Amino acid sequence: MKFFIDTANLNEIKEAQDLGILDGVTTNPSLMAKEGITGEDNIMAHYKAICNIVDNNVSAEVIATDYEGMISEAKTLSQIDRKIVVKIPMIKDGIKAIRYLADEDIRTNCTLVFSAGQAILAAKAGASYVSPFIGRIDDVSGDGVQLIEQIVLIFKNYEFKTEVLAASIRHNLHLIQCAEIGAHVATCPYKVIIGLLNHPLTDKGLAQFLADHKKAQQTAELA
Ligand code: E4P
Repeated sequence: MKFFIDTANLNEIKEAQDLGILDGVTTNPSLMAKEGITGEDNIMAHYKAICNIVDNNVSAEVIATDYEGMISEAKTLSQIDRKIVVKIPMIKDGIKAIRYLADEDIRTNCTLVFSAGQAILAAKAGASYVSPFIGRIDDVSGDGVQLIEQIVLIFKNYEFKTEVLAASIRHNLHLIQCAEIGAHVATCPYKVIIGLLNHPLTDKGLAQFLADHKKAQQTAELA
């Protein structure tokens, strides 16, 4: 399973990269805005800074919603660095753009996917990744993890090369469930990645080991 971090925050990206477990980054216009990145030059420079931290797979989203605009932005974004994956929204012109970009060997991540039908269209168009938003589905009383399972099965049935990128992950259980059902990638906020480290028995066990070691040292020193 590939691990992406879902943020545009350079410190969080560096920390996750330093753990040695990171396979990529996903951003979106909201995450870029959260970091206060505005203006085309600053946005391009920020994507380059992200690419300089990680080894591969930096999703950068187009703003245009028409075919020509998406193609033009995708070409600009893909020229920043070979690590860029262009994020294209799941709309009619987006599907056409994904097909064009696939034929040009430009990798794409089809975003805002909320149904198996949308995922099939994106895979048929040649998307490198499809991003079903599981947290947002749960928010409206759906079952986001079930959608991932359905798409994984469909892609397996037809040997689609498109990878299922579970997005909008809100907590550790989402991540574990996505791993159980074979999502190819999970993109998580920093707190979810770090949250995987935690278990109270680990903390308790380590405290005990260190206390026993200290006691044995002190006993040895007194002897
Ligand atoms: C990632 O590619 C998505 O843009 C992101 O996971 C959306 O997450 P959210 O629903 O928490 O905003």
